[in-house]
Amino acid sequence: MRAAIINQYGDSNELEVVDIAVPVIKADEVLVENVATSINPIDYKARQGLLQARFQWQFPVVLGWDVAGKIVAVGDDVDNFHVGDAVFARPDIDLLGKNGSYAEYTAVKADKLALKPENISFETAAAVPLAGLTALQMLRQLQVKAGQKVLIQAGAGGVGIYAIQLAKKIGAYVATTASQRNRDFVERLGADQVIDYHLNNIVDVLSDYDAVFDMVGDIDNGIAILKRGGHFVTVSAKLTEKQKQTAGKTVTEGWLDTNGKDLAILADAMADGTLDVVLDSVYPLTTRGIRSAHERSETHHARGKIVVQVKVTEKEEK
Ligand SMILES: NC(=O)c1ccc[n+]([C@@H]2O[C@H](COP(=O)([O-])OP(=O)(O)OC[C@H]3O[C@@H](n4cnc5c(N)ncnc54)[C@H](OP(=O)(O)O)[C@@H]3O)[C@@H](O)[C@H]2O)c1
Repeated sequence: MRAAIINQYGDSNELEVVDIAVPVIKADEVLVENVATSINPIDYKARQGLLQARFQWQFPVVLGWDVAGKIVAVGDDVDNFHVGDAVFARPDIDLLGKNGSYAEYTAVKADKLALKPENISFETAAAVPLAGLTALQMLRQLQVKAGQKVLIQAGAGGVGIYAIQLAKKIGAYVATTASQRNRDFVERLGADQVIDYHLNNIVDVLSDYDAVFDMVGDIDNGIAILKRGGHFVTVSAKLTEKQKQTAGKTVTEGWLDTNGKDLAILADAMADGTLDVVLDSVYPLTTRGIRSAHERSETHHARGKIVVQVKVTEKEEK
């Protein structure tokens, strides 16, 4: 099968589309023939070698953790999904680094899957699992309720676009940070207040917040704007012991827990039109395409999600 691999850690030029073996599924897995995948910042961090403390992969490594496609084989223990089902998922990060989604086929544990809504394209579905699950679960960890004030950092990014919409769905008042050029964009997603982080520090504008969802490592300022009893979570930085033990406030790090049940909640919201998916850009799964997709992500200024179409050949790209 065609897959984008890296043979060593480094810059985007390490990515290359080659032929490798199709993954062999275990009893609790299905084999998904991917139509599309998407890029998340963890992809370029992994490519740079920043996850080596967590995962000791063996080269060649296949990156990518968003799957959208059709099931072509099911393991012996799988009875709730079938060959032909259109599905999407954030698969587990496998220990050897062989089972990423920059590939024509990915093995996925059945409990990570959800059915793709019929009225949603594979490209759109591919943009949701990792970022959408993070948004849903971090708002849950923050215990956001109707009427509360929540700050969502980086509202125009892959996680932010979902976090704003899901927090508004709960009934919260949502402040977000974005560059001026994204002000209208995040307001259309539902943000009540937009802070241009180039011009203003959040502590000069916000106070008495119930919850802060940090995606940019602005830890001390985020904690400072919380009211007593408020909740803070970061998905992009390591907290110091002092920060974790902030008196009267709950300060935590977050890591998504991939599961099909939560993904089905997002699928329902996509199907009924209450969760919009915004694509920043779409690239083909070719050597040039995947390198460009990573470079786009590394600008830190994608607006929404970067998607990669798997079913495109080098010839079609020209
Ligand atoms: N732990 C986990 O489970 C987990 C899961 C998902 C993501 N993450 C992490 O969460 C972070 C965000 O992920 P993502 O997918 O949303 O990234 P992304 O799509 O690359 O985010 C891009 C957005 O970040 C905004 N931005 C850049 N610098 C900013 C700043 N200083 N203040 C406010 N906004 C800023 C940009 O807004 P403008 O263009 O408007 O400036 C842009 O829209 C990454 O570090 C990622 O690794 C962790």
